[in-house]
Amino acid sequence: MPADPVAAVTYADPYPFYETLRAGPSLAWNESLRLWVASRAEVIEALLLAPGALRVRPVAEPVPRVIAGSPAGEVFGHLVRMNDGPAHAAHKPALQRALAGLDLNAAHAAALQVARQVPEEQSLSDTLFAMPIQAVAHLLGFAPEALPQVELWMRDFVACLSPLSTEPQLRRASSAADALMTRFEALAAGTPPRHGTLLAAVLADSAVGAPLSRALLANLVGLLSQTCDATAGLLGNSLVALLGEPALRAIARTRDGLHAIVEETARHDPSVQNTRRFVAQPVTISGVPLEAGDAVLLVLASANRDPAFNAEPDRFMPVRAQRRMLGFGHGVHACPGQALACTLAAAGLEALLARSLDLDALRERGWHYRPSANARIPFFV
Ligand code: HEM
Repeated sequence: MPADPVAAVTYADPYPFYETLRAGPSLAWNESLRLWVASRAEVIEALLLAPGALRVRPVAEPVPRVIAGSPAGEVFGHLVRMNDGPAHAAHKPALQRALAGLDLNAAHAAALQVARQVPEEQSLSDTLFAMPIQAVAHLLGFAPEALPQVELWMRDFVACLSPLSTEPQLRRASSAADALMTRFEALAAGTPPRHGTLLAAVLADSAVGAPLSRALLANLVGLLSQTCDATAGLLGNSLVALLGEPALRAIARTRDGLHAIVEETARHDPSVQNTRRFVAQPVTISGVPLEAGDAVLLVLASANRDPAFNAEPDRFMPVRAQRRMLGFGHGVHACPGQALACTLAAAGLEALLARSLDLDALRERGWHYRPSANARIPFFV
């Protein structure tokens, strides 16, 4: 068993451990992490539906101290994902409507085309990132020759979002944030942005004049950073599902089958295993009083396996009636990119399988998980 629910994220099979958490109290205090831990679906939903009292960032530290005042800190500080209240409300609707308005068939075709351009010499573990990030950069309106560089900057930037980042990673994250803001500014200034792109949709919806606010630019960068680890993990975990259950290979021969595998992976073995909330004012959740300053770990991956949430939760069932999942969040901060993420992962999986990967050899060699406190992303050895 893993030592705690954070160590569980990168553990070979964390799900029996999550089952033991669900059998415990609705909110359990973990002294070593100094966090309350929620593992049952109804408790996690209740926490996610209390946005006034529970915030996405600690009140005293809206931007992590290690990046505050740097270009990476500036981007972080504007992201809707990292804000509650007015800063969240100002930009979430435009992002949400732009993503909801995407033609997913066209997005699938574009993502497949971009995925096919990713060089086969690149390692499989890096390819899991390259395919979805470059696809979103393309959908935003970047030219084909810019995609690999945008991907590298984005991977550098995302490294600063982890509490595990090192000093050199923090420095690289800041130069990457600077470069990304400059590139987005140039892209948005190109008149008019390419029709049909996500950028054009966000700009049309925001009805803003040039120059674009730094906050909106940062949130455009945010569309890429939100894609990065989470979608690489969804693609990788879908591949892991195929390796673990050879019967799925027949289903993977059709596009609908690939989508079904990806959707069930998002429930069964989600890439975002947990998220956190910070108590801003006293609140009682499931009978447990929480004090201002407390922090809560919401084990989303455990909720998906809660038998009160999904029938036969441990079975991988590509066709499942009323699949329910919290791995894309819930409530005001719910992920607006869920449908796109599944489309990107399905297109990536299609492109990978077309490369005549030797699935049995891959399974034989095995994989472990990249170090992370919340993202489950396989690394193939
Ligand atoms: C498998 C891939 C993905 C997963 C598992 C995922 C998961 C999540 C989760 C759990 C949250 C909410 C976090 C919280 O409430 O604490 C979130 C928020 C968000 N996601 Fe995703 N996401 C994925 C892909 C994407 C993509 C592709 C985009 C856009 C291109 C996107 C855009 C966003 C944005 C903008 C937010 C912030 C929403 C808000 O705070 O109101 N995500 N995502």
